[in-house]
Amino acid sequence: MLKDHSCGELRKEAVGAEVTLAGWVDRRRDHGGLIFIDLRDREGVTQVVFDPEKSADCHKTASEMRGEYVIQVTGEVSPRPRGTENPRLPTGDIEVIARSAAILNTSKTPPFYINEEVEVDEALRLKYRYLDLRRPRMKKNLELRHRVIKFIRDFMDAHGFVDIETPILTKSTPEGARDYLVPSRVHAGKFYALPQSPQQMKQLLMVAGVEKYYQIARCFRDEDTRADRQPEFTQLDLEMSFIEVDDILELMEELFTALVKAIKPEMKVLKPFPRLSYAEAMERYGTDKPDLRFAMELGDLTEIAARTDFAVFKDVIAQGGKVNGICAPGCAGYSRSQLNELNKFVQELGAAGLLTMSLGTEGGDIEDLTMEEVKSVAARFMTLEQVRQMAQRLGANKGDLLLIVAGRPVLVDTVLGELRQHMGHKLNLAAPDLFAFAFIQDFPLLRWDVEANRWDSEHHPFTAPWEEDIPLMESAPEKVRGKHYDVVGNGYELGGGSIRIHTAELQRKIFRLLGYSDKEIDARFGHMLEAFEYGAPPHGGIALGLDRIIMLLAGEETIREVIAFPKNQSAADLTFDAPSSVSEQQMAELHLRLREER
Ligand code: AMO
Repeated sequence: MLKDHSCGELRKEAVGAEVTLAGWVDRRRDHGGLIFIDLRDREGVTQVVFDPEKSADCHKTASEMRGEYVIQVTGEVSPRPRGTENPRLPTGDIEVIARSAAILNTSKTPPFYINEEVEVDEALRLKYRYLDLRRPRMKKNLELRHRVIKFIRDFMDAHGFVDIETPILTKSTPEGARDYLVPSRVHAGKFYALPQSPQQMKQLLMVAGVEKYYQIARCFRDEDTRADRQPEFTQLDLEMSFIEVDDILELMEELFTALVKAIKPEMKVLKPFPRLSYAEAMERYGTDKPDLRFAMELGDLTEIAARTDFAVFKDVIAQGGKVNGICAPGCAGYSRSQLNELNKFVQELGAAGLLTMSLGTEGGDIEDLTMEEVKSVAARFMTLEQVRQMAQRLGANKGDLLLIVAGRPVLVDTVLGELRQHMGHKLNLAAPDLFAFAFIQDFPLLRWDVEANRWDSEHHPFTAPWEEDIPLMESAPEKVRGKHYDVVGNGYELGGGSIRIHTAELQRKIFRLLGYSDKEIDARFGHMLEAFEYGAPPHGGIALGLDRIIMLLAGEETIREVIAFPKNQSAADLTFDAPSSVSEQQMAELHLRLREER
C-alpha cells in the first residue's frame, strides 16, 4: 500500500507515530514560511504541515502542490498548537509534520469546486461525474447506497431467499414502457430486448421450484426521464411460491421497518403501515401514491355546492361533474399574486380554474365566522351556512383558505391530489423525521386505453384477478379487481407487485382480453403458457424501486443523486457521451442501415 493510515482516522492517541498518508490536496494555504495542506481521501481530511526548517526539500515539493493533486506524505503525528484545534474535523486535534512528500500525479483545475458545497450546473456535474463523486455529499450517497444494498442482501438471505441472476439479453416483457432493443449479429433481422423487469424469469423460477427468489436487478425502460425515473434503474425483485397477499405485505413491512432502523435510526416509521384500497386513496388523497406524513384530505363538496346559486358549480354538477376541495391551514391571508399562482398551478394540470375561499384573517372557531369575513368570488351566491358547511367538511377553521376545484371527477381528484402535495410541501406540513409507508390495494385489473381502443393491464398481464371477480371478466371488465399491491412512501411509489396467474387457461384468457390474437400469444408468451402446464405453483412477488428508496433515505430530490453514472433528462450519458454513432462496419454486421442520412 502507498499509505498506512487513512486521512480520517488519526486522533490524539496517535501523537508521536510516524505515518504515511496518500490522497488529494483538498486545500493548500501558504503562510509565507509554513505550508498547510488539507489532505483528503475517502475517509476524511488530515492537516499536513510543511516546515522549511524541518525539511527544505519537502517544503519545496509542497510549494508545487495545487488543488486535487495526488500526493503521498510521510511524517510525524503531532498535537495541533493550543487554540488551533478544529472541532469540526474528526482529525482536528492533530496534524502531520511532513518529513518527506511526493507528488503522485498533478491535476488540471477542476471545472467546479470539489471542497465546497456550491450549486453547479448538472450537465457539468454529469460530464465530470468522476469529480462530482469526489464531493462529500455524493460520496456519502454512494456509501449509503452500498449500505442499503448490503442490508437488503443480508435480510433476504436471513429470510431464506436465493439470489439468482437473470439474463439482460432477452425477450420483451411488458411493463408498460417501450423496450430497449439489441440487434442480433448472428440472427439477421432479429432483436433481443433488454428486460423492463425480470418478471417472466422470476415466475419461471417458481415453476422451477426455487420457492423464494430475489435479485438486485437492473431494469431498462425507454420512457421519459423524470426526477424519480431513469431509463436504467435498479429493483429489489422478489418472488415466492405458496403465498397470499398478506405474506408479501408483512414481509415488506418488516423489511422497510428494519431498513430504516438500520440506516436512519433517527427517523420514525408509522406502524402498522396503513392499507388503503385504490378507490379510497383516490377519494381521500386524489392519488394512488399519497404522502401520508400530513392529512389535508380531499373533501367532496358536491352536495353542498349543488344547493348554492353559483353557476359554475351548478353547470359542472349538471354535466355529471363534481366539486371537491382541500383546506390550506392558516392561508386565509394569501395575497392576490399567491392566489393567482395557485390558479395557474391547477390550470396547467388541466382544470378550468381554482376557486379560493378565505375564511377571515384571524384564527378561530368556524361558528364565529361572519359573511363579511369570507373572501371568494362565489361568496355572493352562497349562504353563510353553506360556507360553514364546506369549511366543516374540509376540517377548516377561521383563518384557513379553502381550495376548490369543480369539473370531471377524475380530473378533480388528480388536480387536487397534486395541489395537496404542492401545498403540503410549501407549508412544510410533512414531519421531517417521519417515513410514512402505506400499501395500496385492490387496483382495477384493467384500464381502458383510449388511444389503442382496447383494455390494458393496470399492472402487467401476469397479475391474478380476485377469484370472486372472475365472472365479471366478460360482462364488466372494468369492475374486475387485481391482486395487485403497491408500496408507497412519503408520496412516492416505491414498489409494486401481485399474486400471479398460474394456470395457462386463465393466463390465455387475460391475453385475449388484452386484444392479443392466439398467434401473438403463442409467439410472445408461449414459453410461459407451456411452463404453466408443468405444475406451476401458486406464486406472487413484488419489486421495489431501490433508487427511489435510497433517494428518500439520503434526503435527495432526484434519483440521479444516488446513482453513480445516471442518464440526464434526455436519456444521455454525458460522461461517456452515449448514445453515439457506430461505424458502418458495425451496422453492416448487425444487418442494419439508417433510414435517412443524419
Ligand atoms: P413496477 O413496474 O411497478 O413493477 O416497478 C416496480 C418499482 O420500480 C420502480 N420503477 C422505477 N424506478 C426508477 N425509474 C424507472 N423508470 C422506474 N420504473 C419503475 C418503482 C416501481 O414501484 N415486475 C413488476 C414487479 C412485480 O410484479 O413483482 C414491476 O416491475 O419504484
